[in-house]
Amino acid sequence: MKILILNGPNLNLLGKREPEIYGSDSFEDYLVGLKEKFSTIKLEYFQSNHEGALIDKLHEVGFSYDGVVFNAGAYTHTSVGLADAVSGITTQVVEVHISNVHQREEFRHKSYLSPVCKGVVLGFGLKSYDLAIESFL
Ligand code: DQA
Repeated sequence: MKILILNGPNLNLLGKREPEIYGSDSFEDYLVGLKEKFSTIKLEYFQSNHEGALIDKLHEVGFSYDGVVFNAGAYTHTSVGLADAVSGITTQVVEVHISNVHQREEFRHKSYLSPVCKGVVLGFGLKSYDLAIESFL
């Protein structure tokens, strides 16, 4: 089984960025444990701060991988382009957020991705990624 974890803008700063919201672990450190936990899955990781690069990656894996775990960061709340990319591929995508966006600012309550994703996991810190991967098993 092949699953892509796809992280969008500013998620390269995890561990340094607003630790009271996003925690103090870097994603790279967390990924080591994830790969050990899900050792039977081929877990690929890609992060970009660029909307087009995220769209290109969805196109690249979206007809052959078994799943995508996608935290689009702030693009979640703005991007018709990413929603169209998710709609346009055959691989199912699970939307993930570290924080509970519904407890935060109003503009974070809208997601362009939720209607086109298989499901949504949010608010469990980095554990949201574990839960999203489990949804594909
Ligand atoms: C986030 C929530 C978004 O609103 C925010 O822009 C992010 C991170 C989360 O994982 O909680 O960058 O997607």
